[in-house]
Amino acid sequence: MKLILLIHGPNLNMLGKRDVKHYGALTLKELEREVTAVAKRHGLKIRAFQSNHEGGIIDFLQKEAPKVAGILINPGAYTHYSYAIHDALLDTKLPAIEVHLSKVTEREDWRAKSVTAPACVAVFAGKAARSYVEAVERMAKLLNNK
Ligand code: DQA
Repeated sequence: MKLILLIHGPNLNMLGKRDVKHYGALTLKELEREVTAVAKRHGLKIRAFQSNHEGGIIDFLQKEAPKVAGILINPGAYTHYSYAIHDALLDTKLPAIEVHLSKVTEREDWRAKSVTAPACVAVFAGKAARSYVEAVERMAKLLNNK
């Protein structure tokens, strides 16, 4: 089974408690469980990781990328300003898909911009857990056609 990273950025460890209107009621553990189950049905194995630190995410990418086939990432607020995460994603040379729970393009102006998306093959947003399901489906299609 191909191995895929599932990375969550800052504050996403607070899912279930945090801004339920935008991010839904699932906890991070529940979300990871759901994504893992969907991925398994598509022949993909998930290695999940969350960090509130930009450097922690970059360290994890550098360490794990050589062992995996693709990356699903919700960089949280880093989406909007972390050129360092953009570069780290690019340096993996792996297909990466950006995911967001909320409708990032319909909220504050600053949230509509992603600096990490140019390092990704696709972005799925605004459908809560469904965004992740669609991202897994796209990743499976991408990897299984290789
Ligand atoms: C988010 C959107 C970001 O703007 C925000 O900072 C998050 C979560 C989302 O999943 O909708 O932390 O990435």
